[in-house]
Amino acid sequence: MFKFLLKVWGLARPYRGRVALGVVTGVIAGLMEPIMIATVAFVYGVIFPAAGAPSLASQLKAAPEFVQSWARAAEQALAAGVQTHPGAVVLLVAFIPLVMLLRGLFGYLNMYFLQWAAIRAVTDLRVRLFEHLMKLSAGFFNRANTGELMSRVMSDTATLQYILSFATAVIVKDPVLLVGMLSLLLWRSTKITLISMVVMPVCMFPIVIYNRKVRRSSRALQTHVAELGTVMAESFTGNRVIKAYNLESTVVDQFRATARRFISHYMRIIRSAEIPGPMLEFVGAIGIALVLFYLMSQQAGNRPDAKKLLLVIGGIFAMYKPLKNVAKLYNSIEQARAASERVFDLLATQNSIPEPAQPKPLRAAGAAIEFQNVSFSYDAKPDDARPVLRGIQLAVKPGQLVALVGSSGSGKTTLSNLLLRFYDPQEGAIRIGGTDIREVATRDLRDQIAIVTQETVLFNESIRRNIELGRPGSSQDQIIEAAKNAYAHDFIMEKPSGYDTVVGEKGAMLSGGQRQRLAIARAILKNAPILVLDEATNALDAESEQAVQAALDRLMIGRTTICIAHRLSTIQKADLIVVLDQGQIVETGTHAELMERQGIYRRLYELHSETPSPRDRGSADASSAGSCG
Ligand SMILES: Nc1ncnc2c1ncn2[C@@H]1O[C@H](COP(=O)(O)OP(=O)(O)O)[C@@H](O)[C@H]1O
Ligand SMILES: [Mg+2]
Repeated sequence: MFKFLLKVWGLARPYRGRVALGVVTGVIAGLMEPIMIATVAFVYGVIFPAAGAPSLASQLKAAPEFVQSWARAAEQALAAGVQTHPGAVVLLVAFIPLVMLLRGLFGYLNMYFLQWAAIRAVTDLRVRLFEHLMKLSAGFFNRANTGELMSRVMSDTATLQYILSFATAVIVKDPVLLVGMLSLLLWRSTKITLISMVVMPVCMFPIVIYNRKVRRSSRALQTHVAELGTVMAESFTGNRVIKAYNLESTVVDQFRATARRFISHYMRIIRSAEIPGPMLEFVGAIGIALVLFYLMSQQAGNRPDAKKLLLVIGGIFAMYKPLKNVAKLYNSIEQARAASERVFDLLATQNSIPEPAQPKPLRAAGAAIEFQNVSFSYDAKPDDARPVLRGIQLAVKPGQLVALVGSSGSGKTTLSNLLLRFYDPQEGAIRIGGTDIREVATRDLRDQIAIVTQETVLFNESIRRNIELGRPGSSQDQIIEAAKNAYAHDFIMEKPSGYDTVVGEKGAMLSGGQRQRLAIARAILKNAPILVLDEATNALDAESEQAVQAALDRLMIGRTTICIAHRLSTIQKADLIVVLDQGQIVETGTHAELMERQGIYRRLYELHSETPSPRDRGSADASSAGSCG
């Protein structure tokens, strides 16, 4: 537990100045409590002096002589003052609210400084976590789910903030308070204090019993929070499908079941947090009752005066809250520990796409791309009999247009994923200009490849900003130029706010074809030497497809292009056609060569020409489009 606390406090290292202030003010605030009680008892004693009560000076027998004489003088002066000046009484009594004010002030400063540091430390942690997540590979995001990640970044870190502020305050302030108060009570009336404390150990039992399962429940609780997040994220983004298939009640049931599982774990934590408090109070009250019994058993002359009793009872009451806090401390630290494990686990996740220690420079312009004996499967099992790609051997000369064809699921998109190093192949290597892409910085690699994919990814921002992401910092003119080349300018100008139109989440407010044209504009703006088109025009109607194709044709000049095409009719002008089947290259050649060969390509081509896909119905002659999509 101590190691864990050190780790959490380590997060606040940059703010140690404020943490130190928080600790110091916490110690003072802790001391103010016994001082407060002592002041009340002292003032009461001076104003209503009890006959025969031992004087302060006589109680300081052990103290040096000058202290004793000072105390005597002070007592006399006070007694005289109280008798001769009525104003002195007011002054003396005013001490009580003054001490209370100081107690409040230091209590506030204690919390203020600790929270000041805690929120900053936790914000740093959140940013670090998010930054770390952004560096993780595509493979990681395949396995992870959104709700889970969001709950780790937001809610799990929040419990650490609790540790850094409230728990730290309790750790600093309350022990000081308890020790101070106990010393005061023992000093002033040893016997009564001891009697009232005799039963205290009893209340350790419920604390120990209920705390046992806290950590497990906390972990379960956090998992359920994450599950709820996942159900929500999926339901909100998949909202249309849920509506279309009348899945509302299914989703609500799922949500209800997950939310309910939460309850029993939550209640266990509540029990363990809330039972020790009343238990302590009850035991404390028994202690006070014992004291009264003790006093009754004494002879009248021997009874301690009211001042002492006031002091002890006041002291015991003042100790309730800090005792409760300390009792709860274990519970809350265990809760935070469960949450922090999830945070630190995530921070420790290794990137499966390691950056090279000494990255080589990459010059993709005018460079050939080679796939050398590449084999790959998404979840790498050593004895995987059917990898997604097997023994891919492919050379793309600089400036060439290479078309990848093959039925759905044959591995075309996977090949482009490998080129962008979203994943690393288990076997073989991919080289650009002779350099293995694992030896260059991924940043550098991806800078030189522009990609337009099947599903276009737009952000909930303006059209301008969505295009600009291709090359951040581009001028207005460059953005408009790119949009014009992608045949997007006209439809953009028809929007009410033109380039400032916000496109909605994932571009929900645009049609599929419009989204795709924005993605193409983005790629045009990027102006990278390598171009990857993964069914880039599949959402366009025949007319805009022809137009966009013209734009893409212009874009391809002088660039090495890998074009994944679903529709065979449209890639006849490629320098090289590569036919993939179940993860293997089965045929390569030009259109004419492959037609000669009477193989898979020819069969696919003929199938296609006979029954044009629904998308092609618009154009009478499907083969004329020349599209690469
Ligand atoms: N992220 C992924 N995780 C696991 N398997 C995947 C993933 N993406 C694709 N696959 C599988 O890899 C195979 C090839 O997919 P893909 O390259 O997308 O095919 P294509 O683009 O040719 O239609 C398919 O069998 C598919 O199920
Ligand atoms: Mg694909």
